[in-house]
Amino acid sequence: MSSTNQQRRDFLKQSSLAASAAFSPYFFSNPQTLADETRSPNDRFRIGVIGSGGMAGGNMNAAKDWLDVVAIADVDEGRRESFSNRFSGGKADTYNDYRKVIERDDVDVIHVATPDHWHTKTLVESMLAGKDVYCEKPMTLTIDEGKLIRRVQKETGRIVQVGTQQRSTFNLFVKAMAIVQEGRLGRINKLEVSIGGAPASPALPVAEVPQGLDWERWLGPAPMVDYRFLQPEATGKKRKPRAHTNAHYEFRWWYEYSGGKLTDWGAHHVDIAMWALRLNGQKDGPVSIGGTAKHPVEFKDGYAVQNDRYNTASEFRFSVKFPGDTEMVIKHSDNGILIEGDKGRIFVNRGKLTGAPVEALDSNPLADDAIQKVYKDLPMENNERKGHWANFLNCVKTRQEPISDVHSHMEMLNVCHLAGISARFGRELTWDAKAEQIIGDEQANAFLGRPYRKGYEIEV
Ligand SMILES: NC(=O)c1ccc[n+]([C@@H]2O[C@H](COP(=O)([O-])OP(=O)(O)OC[C@H]3O[C@@H](n4cnc5c(N)ncnc54)[C@H](O)[C@@H]3O)[C@@H](O)[C@H]2O)c1
Repeated sequence: MSSTNQQRRDFLKQSSLAASAAFSPYFFSNPQTLADETRSPNDRFRIGVIGSGGMAGGNMNAAKDWLDVVAIADVDEGRRESFSNRFSGGKADTYNDYRKVIERDDVDVIHVATPDHWHTKTLVESMLAGKDVYCEKPMTLTIDEGKLIRRVQKETGRIVQVGTQQRSTFNLFVKAMAIVQEGRLGRINKLEVSIGGAPASPALPVAEVPQGLDWERWLGPAPMVDYRFLQPEATGKKRKPRAHTNAHYEFRWWYEYSGGKLTDWGAHHVDIAMWALRLNGQKDGPVSIGGTAKHPVEFKDGYAVQNDRYNTASEFRFSVKFPGDTEMVIKHSDNGILIEGDKGRIFVNRGKLTGAPVEALDSNPLADDAIQKVYKDLPMENNERKGHWANFLNCVKTRQEPISDVHSHMEMLNVCHLAGISARFGRELTWDAKAEQIIGDEQANAFLGRPYRKGYEIEV
Protein backbone atom coordinates (compact mmCIF):
# COMPACT_ATOMS: atom_id res chain seq x y z
CA MET A 1 0.00 0.00 0.00
CA SER A 2 1.35 3.48 -0.85
CA SER A 3 2.12 5.77 2.06
CA THR A 4 -0.58 8.17 0.87
CA ASN A 5 -3.13 5.40 1.06
CA GLN A 6 -1.86 4.42 4.48
CA GLN A 7 -2.15 8.02 5.68
CA ARG A 8 -5.64 8.18 4.33
CA ARG A 9 -6.60 4.99 6.11
CA ASP A 10 -5.08 6.25 9.37
CA PHE A 11 -7.00 9.44 8.95
CA LEU A 12 -10.23 7.57 8.39
CA LYS A 13 -9.64 5.46 11.47
CA GLN A 14 -8.98 8.44 13.67
CA SER A 15 -11.68 10.69 12.43
CA SER A 16 -15.35 10.50 13.06
CA LEU A 17 -15.65 12.11 9.66
CA ALA A 18 -15.48 8.60 8.30
CA ALA A 19 -18.98 8.09 9.64
CA SER A 20 -20.39 10.86 7.52
CA ALA A 21 -20.61 10.13 3.83
CA ALA A 22 -22.15 13.57 3.31
CA PHE A 23 -18.84 15.32 2.82
CA SER A 24 -16.41 12.54 2.16
CA PRO A 25 -15.81 13.07 -1.59
CA TYR A 26 -13.92 16.30 -1.11
CA PHE A 27 -11.71 14.89 1.61
CA PHE A 28 -10.82 11.80 -0.33
CA SER A 29 -9.91 13.72 -3.45
CA ASN A 30 -7.78 16.07 -1.38
CA PRO A 31 -4.55 14.27 -0.47
CA GLN A 32 -2.71 15.17 2.72
CA THR A 33 -0.40 17.59 1.02
CA LEU A 34 1.50 18.69 4.10
CA ALA A 35 2.27 15.15 5.16
CA ASP A 36 3.48 14.37 1.65
CA GLU A 37 5.50 17.50 1.11
CA THR A 38 7.12 17.92 4.48
CA ARG A 39 8.74 14.53 4.75
CA SER A 40 12.24 15.75 3.90
CA PRO A 41 13.90 17.81 6.65
CA ASN A 42 14.26 20.73 4.25
CA ASP A 43 10.54 20.79 3.59
CA ARG A 44 9.55 20.95 7.24
CA PHE A 45 8.59 24.26 8.83
CA ARG A 46 10.92 25.66 11.49
CA ILE A 47 8.86 27.14 14.25
CA GLY A 48 9.62 29.54 17.07
CA VAL A 49 7.34 29.20 20.09
CA ILE A 50 6.56 32.18 22.33
CA GLY A 51 4.97 30.98 25.57
CA SER A 52 5.61 27.29 26.17
CA GLY A 53 2.73 26.44 28.50
CA GLY A 54 -0.17 24.03 28.32
CA MET A 55 -1.66 25.18 25.02
CA ALA A 56 1.63 25.40 23.16
CA GLY A 57 2.21 21.77 24.12
CA GLY A 58 -1.18 20.73 22.74
CA ASN A 59 -0.49 22.65 19.56
CA MET A 60 2.97 21.21 18.98
CA ASN A 61 1.57 17.71 19.46
CA ALA A 62 -1.07 18.45 16.86
CA ALA A 63 1.38 19.83 14.28
CA LYS A 64 4.51 17.76 14.98
CA ASP A 65 4.28 15.82 11.68
CA TRP A 66 5.00 19.00 9.73
CA LEU A 67 7.35 21.14 11.77
CA ASP A 68 10.45 21.30 13.94
CA VAL A 69 10.66 23.45 17.07
CA VAL A 70 13.93 25.37 16.72
CA ALA A 71 13.50 28.25 19.20
CA ILE A 72 11.47 28.69 22.37
CA ALA A 73 10.85 31.77 24.51
CA ASP A 74 9.28 31.60 27.92
CA VAL A 75 9.77 33.80 30.96
CA ASP A 76 9.71 30.64 33.09
CA GLU A 77 13.03 28.85 32.74
CA GLY A 78 11.74 25.47 33.91
CA ARG A 79 8.91 25.58 31.38
CA ARG A 80 11.04 26.51 28.38
CA GLU A 81 13.66 23.87 29.17
CA SER A 82 11.17 21.06 29.64
CA PHE A 83 9.34 22.15 26.46
CA SER A 84 12.61 21.96 24.56
CA ASN A 85 13.26 18.45 25.88
CA ARG A 86 9.76 17.35 25.05
CA PHE A 87 9.45 18.78 21.54
CA SER A 88 13.01 19.05 20.22
CA GLY A 89 14.97 16.52 22.25
CA GLY A 90 16.69 19.50 23.92
CA LYS A 91 18.01 20.83 20.58
CA ALA A 92 15.94 24.02 20.33
CA ASP A 93 17.49 27.27 21.56
CA THR A 94 15.69 28.67 24.57
CA TYR A 95 15.30 32.32 25.60
CA ASN A 96 13.77 34.46 28.28
CA ASP A 97 13.20 37.28 25.77
CA TYR A 98 10.79 36.46 22.91
CA ARG A 99 12.45 39.06 20.67
CA LYS A 100 15.38 36.65 20.26
CA VAL A 101 12.99 34.16 18.65
CA ILE A 102 11.39 36.71 16.35
CA GLU A 103 14.70 38.06 15.06
CA ARG A 104 16.04 34.68 13.92
CA ASP A 105 16.28 34.30 10.15
CA ASP A 106 15.93 30.53 10.33
CA VAL A 107 12.50 30.68 11.98
CA ASP A 108 9.77 30.31 9.31
CA VAL A 109 6.68 30.68 11.47
CA ILE A 110 5.89 31.83 15.00
CA HIS A 111 3.45 30.36 17.47
CA VAL A 112 2.18 32.82 20.11
CA ALA A 113 0.75 30.99 23.14
CA THR A 114 1.40 33.44 25.96
CA PRO A 115 -1.33 34.68 28.30
CA ASP A 116 -3.70 37.04 26.48
CA HIS A 117 -2.18 40.31 27.72
CA TRP A 118 0.96 39.56 25.69
CA HIS A 119 -0.71 38.45 22.42
CA THR A 120 -0.94 41.79 20.65
CA LYS A 121 2.62 42.91 21.31
CA THR A 122 4.21 39.61 20.29
CA LEU A 123 1.93 39.15 17.27
CA VAL A 124 2.48 42.69 15.96
CA GLU A 125 6.26 42.50 16.42
CA SER A 126 6.35 39.09 14.71
CA MET A 127 4.44 40.42 11.69
CA LEU A 128 6.68 43.49 11.48
CA ALA A 129 9.69 41.14 11.45
CA GLY A 130 8.19 39.35 8.44
CA LYS A 131 6.90 36.24 10.20
CA ASP A 132 3.66 34.34 9.69
CA VAL A 133 1.94 33.55 12.97
CA TYR A 134 -0.42 31.05 14.56
CA CYS A 135 -1.69 33.12 17.50
CA GLU A 136 -3.78 31.62 20.25
CA LYS A 137 -7.25 32.94 20.95
CA PRO A 138 -8.44 35.38 22.15
CA MET A 139 -6.23 37.41 19.81
CA THR A 140 -6.41 40.57 21.95
CA LEU A 141 -7.19 41.95 25.38
CA THR A 142 -8.99 45.01 23.98
CA ILE A 143 -10.97 46.20 20.98
CA ASP A 144 -8.34 48.81 20.06
CA GLU A 145 -5.67 46.10 19.91
CA GLY A 146 -7.74 44.38 17.22
CA LYS A 147 -7.70 47.56 15.16
CA LEU A 148 -3.91 47.73 15.41
CA ILE A 149 -3.44 44.07 14.46
CA ARG A 150 -5.81 44.43 11.52
CA ARG A 151 -3.80 47.40 10.24
CA VAL A 152 -0.38 45.78 10.68
CA GLN A 153 -1.55 42.53 9.10
CA LYS A 154 -2.84 44.43 6.07
CA GLU A 155 0.36 46.44 5.75
CA THR A 156 2.72 43.50 6.14
CA GLY A 157 0.66 40.90 4.26
CA ARG A 158 1.58 38.24 6.82
CA ILE A 159 -0.44 35.06 7.23
CA VAL A 160 -2.15 34.91 10.63
CA GLN A 161 -4.25 32.04 11.91
CA VAL A 162 -6.06 32.52 15.24
CA GLY A 163 -6.32 29.40 17.41
CA THR A 164 -10.09 28.97 17.19
CA GLN A 165 -9.85 25.37 16.05
CA GLN A 166 -13.61 24.85 16.16
CA ARG A 167 -13.59 26.47 12.72
CA SER A 168 -11.71 23.38 11.48
CA THR A 169 -13.91 20.84 13.27
CA PHE A 170 -15.63 19.54 10.18
CA ASN A 171 -17.87 16.87 11.66
CA LEU A 172 -19.52 19.25 14.18
CA PHE A 173 -19.16 23.01 13.84
CA VAL A 174 -18.42 23.25 10.11
CA LYS A 175 -21.20 20.78 9.37
CA ALA A 176 -23.54 22.96 11.47
CA MET A 177 -22.46 25.96 9.39
CA ALA A 178 -23.16 24.05 6.18
CA ILE A 179 -26.69 23.39 7.43
CA VAL A 180 -27.08 27.13 8.04
CA GLN A 181 -25.54 28.06 4.69
CA GLU A 182 -27.97 25.81 2.80
CA GLY A 183 -30.82 27.79 4.39
CA ARG A 184 -32.21 24.82 6.29
CA LEU A 185 -32.89 26.90 9.43
CA GLY A 186 -34.48 29.71 7.46
CA ARG A 187 -33.80 33.20 8.78
CA ILE A 188 -31.88 33.06 12.06
CA ASN A 189 -33.47 35.22 14.74
CA LYS A 190 -32.15 33.78 18.02
CA LEU A 191 -28.82 32.36 19.14
CA GLU A 192 -28.05 31.10 22.62
CA VAL A 193 -24.35 30.85 23.39
CA SER A 194 -23.53 28.92 26.58
CA ILE A 195 -19.94 29.16 27.70
CA GLY A 196 -19.85 28.09 31.35
CA GLY A 197 -19.10 30.19 34.41
CA ALA A 198 -15.74 31.22 35.85
CA PRO A 199 -14.39 30.33 39.29
CA ALA A 200 -14.14 32.67 42.26
CA SER A 201 -11.19 32.39 44.62
CA PRO A 202 -10.43 33.13 48.23
CA ALA A 203 -7.95 35.92 49.01
CA LEU A 204 -4.58 34.84 47.62
CA PRO A 205 -1.56 35.70 49.75
CA VAL A 206 1.48 37.42 48.28
CA ALA A 207 4.05 34.70 47.75
CA GLU A 208 7.68 34.41 46.81
CA VAL A 209 8.14 34.28 43.05
CA PRO A 210 9.12 30.72 42.11
CA GLN A 211 12.73 30.25 41.09
CA GLY A 212 13.21 30.64 37.36
CA LEU A 213 10.05 32.73 36.78
CA ASP A 214 10.78 36.27 35.57
CA TRP A 215 7.68 37.83 37.12
CA GLU A 216 8.37 41.35 35.89
CA ARG A 217 8.45 40.12 32.28
CA TRP A 218 5.50 37.78 32.80
CA LEU A 219 3.49 40.92 33.72
CA GLY A 220 4.98 42.83 30.79
CA PRO A 221 2.44 45.41 29.57
CA ALA A 222 0.13 44.82 32.58
CA PRO A 223 0.42 46.81 35.83
CA MET A 224 3.22 45.82 38.21
CA VAL A 225 1.69 43.75 41.05
CA ASP A 226 2.79 41.10 43.53
CA TYR A 227 2.87 37.44 42.64
CA ARG A 228 0.12 35.54 44.47
CA PHE A 229 -0.26 31.86 45.13
CA LEU A 230 -2.40 29.62 47.33
CA GLN A 231 -1.74 25.90 47.74
CA PRO A 232 -4.83 23.92 46.75
CA GLU A 233 -5.01 22.23 50.16
CA ALA A 234 -5.08 25.65 51.88
CA THR A 235 -8.53 26.30 50.42
CA GLY A 236 -9.94 23.28 52.24
CA LYS A 237 -11.36 22.18 48.89
CA LYS A 238 -9.96 19.70 46.47
CA ARG A 239 -8.85 21.79 43.51
CA LYS A 240 -6.73 19.58 41.41
CA PRO A 241 -4.54 19.83 39.47
CA ARG A 242 -4.18 23.58 39.90
CA ALA A 243 -3.39 25.97 42.70
CA HIS A 244 -4.96 29.43 42.80
CA THR A 245 -2.59 32.10 41.47
CA ASN A 246 -2.40 35.22 39.31
CA ALA A 247 0.04 33.53 36.93
CA HIS A 248 0.18 30.27 34.95
CA TYR A 249 -3.16 29.11 33.56
CA GLU A 250 -5.19 30.95 36.23
CA PHE A 251 -4.43 34.32 34.57
CA ARG A 252 -7.76 33.66 32.80
CA TRP A 253 -9.69 34.82 35.85
CA TRP A 254 -8.11 38.32 36.02
CA TYR A 255 -9.20 41.19 33.76
CA GLU A 256 -5.64 42.48 33.81
CA TYR A 257 -4.52 39.48 31.73
CA SER A 258 -7.67 38.08 30.13
CA GLY A 259 -11.43 38.54 29.78
CA GLY A 260 -12.48 35.57 31.92
CA LYS A 261 -14.90 33.07 30.43
CA LEU A 262 -16.32 35.75 28.13
CA THR A 263 -13.16 35.66 26.03
CA ASP A 264 -11.72 32.27 27.06
CA TRP A 265 -14.74 30.28 25.80
CA GLY A 266 -16.54 33.20 24.21
CA ALA A 267 -13.75 33.28 21.62
CA HIS A 268 -14.82 29.75 20.62
CA HIS A 269 -18.60 29.75 20.87
CA VAL A 270 -19.49 33.38 20.10
CA ASP A 271 -17.25 32.78 17.09
CA ILE A 272 -19.51 29.98 15.85
CA ALA A 273 -22.64 32.04 16.52
CA MET A 274 -21.25 34.99 14.54
CA TRP A 275 -20.17 32.67 11.72
CA ALA A 276 -23.75 31.38 11.52
CA LEU A 277 -25.11 34.93 11.37
CA ARG A 278 -22.74 35.90 8.58
CA LEU A 279 -23.59 32.80 6.54
CA ASN A 280 -27.25 33.66 7.08
CA GLY A 281 -26.76 37.07 5.48
CA GLN A 282 -26.42 39.24 8.61
CA LYS A 283 -23.78 41.71 7.45
CA ASP A 284 -24.01 44.20 10.33
CA GLY A 285 -22.43 44.17 13.76
CA PRO A 286 -24.36 44.39 17.02
CA VAL A 287 -26.19 47.57 18.02
CA SER A 288 -26.40 47.00 21.77
CA ILE A 289 -25.29 44.69 24.53
CA GLY A 290 -26.52 44.50 28.09
CA GLY A 291 -27.55 42.10 30.81
CA THR A 292 -26.49 40.94 34.22
CA ALA A 293 -23.14 39.78 35.53
CA LYS A 294 -21.92 38.65 38.92
CA HIS A 295 -18.28 39.17 39.84
CA PRO A 296 -16.41 37.54 42.73
CA VAL A 297 -15.44 41.06 43.91
CA GLU A 298 -17.02 44.47 43.97
CA PHE A 299 -16.41 46.83 41.05
CA LYS A 300 -16.09 50.61 41.02
CA ASP A 301 -15.67 52.66 37.84
CA GLY A 302 -14.96 49.49 35.88
CA TYR A 303 -12.19 48.21 38.18
CA ALA A 304 -12.18 45.53 40.87
CA VAL A 305 -12.01 47.06 44.34
CA GLN A 306 -9.95 44.17 45.78
CA ASN A 307 -6.78 43.10 44.02
CA ASP A 308 -6.08 39.84 45.87
CA ARG A 309 -8.52 37.44 44.21
CA TYR A 310 -10.05 36.46 40.89
CA ASN A 311 -12.12 39.26 39.42
CA THR A 312 -13.68 38.17 36.09
CA ALA A 313 -17.43 37.55 35.84
CA SER A 314 -18.41 34.21 37.34
CA GLU A 315 -22.08 34.26 36.26
CA PHE A 316 -23.71 36.28 33.51
CA ARG A 317 -26.49 36.58 30.98
CA PHE A 318 -26.14 39.10 28.17
CA SER A 319 -28.45 40.03 25.36
CA VAL A 320 -26.71 41.18 22.18
CA LYS A 321 -29.06 42.83 19.68
CA PHE A 322 -28.45 42.93 15.94
CA PRO A 323 -30.35 44.92 13.30
CA GLY A 324 -33.45 43.10 12.09
CA ASP A 325 -34.58 41.90 15.50
CA THR A 326 -31.96 39.19 15.90
CA GLU A 327 -30.82 38.41 19.42
CA MET A 328 -27.73 36.57 20.67
CA VAL A 329 -27.82 35.52 24.31
CA ILE A 330 -24.48 34.78 26.01
CA LYS A 331 -24.82 32.94 29.30
CA HIS A 332 -22.73 31.11 31.85
CA SER A 333 -24.69 27.88 32.27
CA ASP A 334 -24.05 24.82 30.06
CA ASN A 335 -21.80 24.67 27.02
CA GLY A 336 -22.75 24.92 23.35
CA ILE A 337 -24.57 27.00 20.78
CA LEU A 338 -28.28 26.89 20.00
CA ILE A 339 -29.06 28.39 16.60
CA GLU A 340 -32.69 29.06 15.87
CA GLY A 341 -34.31 30.16 12.61
CA ASP A 342 -37.86 30.42 11.36
CA LYS A 343 -37.60 26.93 9.80
CA GLY A 344 -35.81 25.00 12.51
CA ARG A 345 -33.05 24.93 15.10
CA ILE A 346 -29.84 23.05 15.85
CA PHE A 347 -27.55 22.69 18.85
CA VAL A 348 -23.81 22.15 18.55
CA ASN A 349 -20.93 21.77 20.96
CA ARG A 350 -17.69 19.74 21.00
CA GLY A 351 -19.58 16.52 21.65
CA LYS A 352 -22.70 16.66 19.52
CA LEU A 353 -24.69 18.24 16.71
CA THR A 354 -28.44 17.74 17.17
CA GLY A 355 -31.84 18.94 16.01
CA ALA A 356 -34.47 18.06 13.40
CA PRO A 357 -32.47 19.67 10.53
CA VAL A 358 -29.58 17.33 11.42
CA GLU A 359 -31.83 14.26 11.38
CA ALA A 360 -33.22 15.39 8.03
CA LEU A 361 -29.75 14.96 6.50
CA ASP A 362 -30.33 11.17 6.42
CA SER A 363 -32.92 11.55 3.69
CA ASN A 364 -31.74 14.87 2.28
CA PRO A 365 -27.95 15.12 2.59
CA LEU A 366 -25.86 18.25 2.25
CA ALA A 367 -24.50 19.06 -1.20
CA ASP A 368 -21.13 17.39 -1.88
CA ASP A 369 -19.33 20.72 -1.76
CA ALA A 370 -21.26 22.18 1.21
CA ILE A 371 -18.41 21.83 3.71
CA GLN A 372 -15.86 23.02 1.20
CA LYS A 373 -17.95 26.12 0.49
CA VAL A 374 -18.32 27.01 4.17
CA TYR A 375 -14.56 26.54 4.50
CA LYS A 376 -14.15 29.17 1.78
CA ASP A 377 -12.45 26.68 -0.59
CA LEU A 378 -9.38 26.76 1.63
CA PRO A 379 -6.97 23.84 2.07
CA MET A 380 -8.55 21.16 4.27
CA GLU A 381 -6.73 18.30 5.93
CA ASN A 382 -7.51 16.37 9.06
CA ASN A 383 -9.95 17.60 11.69
CA GLU A 384 -10.08 19.78 14.79
CA ARG A 385 -6.76 21.15 16.09
CA LYS A 386 -4.62 19.18 13.66
CA GLY A 387 -6.82 20.33 10.81
CA HIS A 388 -6.51 23.93 11.98
CA TRP A 389 -2.72 23.71 11.92
CA ALA A 390 -2.81 22.06 8.51
CA ASN A 391 -4.96 24.92 7.25
CA PHE A 392 -2.48 27.46 8.61
CA LEU A 393 0.63 25.77 7.21
CA ASN A 394 -1.00 25.16 3.83
CA CYS A 395 -2.00 28.84 3.74
CA VAL A 396 1.57 29.84 4.55
CA LYS A 397 2.51 28.00 1.36
CA THR A 398 -0.34 29.27 -0.80
CA ARG A 399 -0.46 32.77 0.80
CA GLN A 400 -4.25 32.50 1.23
CA GLU A 401 -6.00 33.95 4.26
CA PRO A 402 -6.57 31.07 6.72
CA ILE A 403 -9.98 30.08 8.02
CA SER A 404 -9.56 31.94 11.36
CA ASP A 405 -8.50 35.24 9.85
CA VAL A 406 -7.74 38.40 11.82
CA HIS A 407 -10.71 40.32 10.46
CA SER A 408 -13.55 37.91 11.27
CA HIS A 409 -11.94 36.96 14.58
CA MET A 410 -11.84 40.58 15.58
CA GLU A 411 -15.49 41.18 14.63
CA MET A 412 -16.65 38.42 16.91
CA LEU A 413 -14.14 39.19 19.67
CA ASN A 414 -15.53 42.72 19.79
CA VAL A 415 -18.79 41.15 21.01
CA CYS A 416 -16.94 39.30 23.79
CA HIS A 417 -14.98 42.39 24.81
CA LEU A 418 -18.13 44.52 24.83
CA ALA A 419 -19.81 41.98 27.09
CA GLY A 420 -16.82 42.32 29.44
CA ILE A 421 -17.04 46.12 29.45
CA SER A 422 -20.80 45.96 30.03
CA ALA A 423 -20.19 43.55 32.93
CA ARG A 424 -17.57 45.80 34.51
CA PHE A 425 -19.86 48.84 34.48
CA GLY A 426 -23.10 46.97 35.05
CA ARG A 427 -24.92 48.76 32.27
CA GLU A 428 -26.11 48.35 28.72
CA LEU A 429 -23.88 49.65 25.95
CA THR A 430 -24.92 51.03 22.58
CA TRP A 431 -22.44 50.10 19.87
CA ASP A 432 -21.64 51.73 16.55
CA ALA A 433 -20.16 48.75 14.72
CA LYS A 434 -18.94 50.80 11.73
CA ALA A 435 -17.10 53.39 13.82
CA GLU A 436 -16.15 50.70 16.40
CA GLN A 437 -17.16 53.04 19.22
CA ILE A 438 -19.51 52.86 22.20
CA ILE A 439 -22.10 55.60 21.78
CA GLY A 440 -22.80 58.14 24.52
CA ASP A 441 -20.70 56.56 27.26
CA GLU A 442 -17.21 58.05 27.47
CA GLN A 443 -16.34 56.12 30.61
CA ALA A 444 -17.05 52.77 28.92
CA ASN A 445 -15.49 53.95 25.67
CA ALA A 446 -12.20 54.49 27.50
CA PHE A 447 -12.11 50.70 28.03
CA LEU A 448 -11.76 50.03 24.31
CA GLY A 449 -8.02 50.31 24.98
CA ARG A 450 -5.73 49.93 27.97
CA PRO A 451 -2.57 51.63 29.21
CA TYR A 452 0.72 49.76 28.73
CA ARG A 453 3.32 49.68 31.45
CA LYS A 454 6.41 51.75 30.69
CA GLY A 455 8.88 49.79 28.64
CA TYR A 456 6.17 47.53 27.21
CA GLU A 457 4.40 49.90 24.82
CA ILE A 458 3.72 48.62 21.31
CA GLU A 459 5.76 50.51 18.75
CA VAL A 460 4.69 50.43 15.11
N1 LIG B 1 -7.46 27.11 21.40
C1 LIG B 1 -7.78 26.58 22.57
O1 LIG B 1 -8.66 25.73 22.69
C2 LIG B 1 -7.03 27.03 23.80
C3 LIG B 1 -7.02 26.22 24.94
C4 LIG B 1 -6.27 26.64 26.05
C5 LIG B 1 -5.58 27.86 25.99
N2 LIG B 1 -5.64 28.63 24.88
C6 LIG B 1 -4.95 29.94 24.85
O2 LIG B 1 -3.55 29.73 24.89
C7 LIG B 1 -2.91 30.79 25.61
C8 LIG B 1 -2.02 30.18 26.70
O3 LIG B 1 -2.82 29.48 27.60
P1 LIG B 1 -2.20 28.33 28.53
O4 LIG B 1 -3.32 27.65 29.19
O5 LIG B 1 -1.23 27.53 27.74
O6 LIG B 1 -1.42 29.21 29.61
P2 LIG B 1 -0.09 28.87 30.42
O7 LIG B 1 -0.05 29.81 31.55
O8 LIG B 1 -0.03 27.41 30.69
O9 LIG B 1 1.07 29.19 29.38
C9 LIG B 1 1.47 30.49 29.02
C10 LIG B 1 2.98 30.52 29.00
O10 LIG B 1 3.42 31.77 28.49
C11 LIG B 1 4.56 32.17 29.24
N3 LIG B 1 4.78 33.61 29.10
C12 LIG B 1 4.23 34.64 29.77
N4 LIG B 1 4.72 35.80 29.32
C13 LIG B 1 5.64 35.50 28.36
C14 LIG B 1 6.49 36.29 27.53
N5 LIG B 1 6.53 37.61 27.60
N6 LIG B 1 7.30 35.63 26.66
C15 LIG B 1 7.31 34.27 26.59
N7 LIG B 1 6.52 33.50 27.36
C16 LIG B 1 5.68 34.11 28.22
C17 LIG B 1 4.24 31.73 30.65
O11 LIG B 1 5.38 31.68 31.48
C18 LIG B 1 3.60 30.36 30.40
O12 LIG B 1 4.56 29.32 30.39
C19 LIG B 1 -4.03 31.66 26.17
O13 LIG B 1 -4.19 32.79 25.36
C20 LIG B 1 -5.26 30.78 26.08
O14 LIG B 1 -6.46 31.50 25.88
C21 LIG B 1 -6.33 28.23 23.79
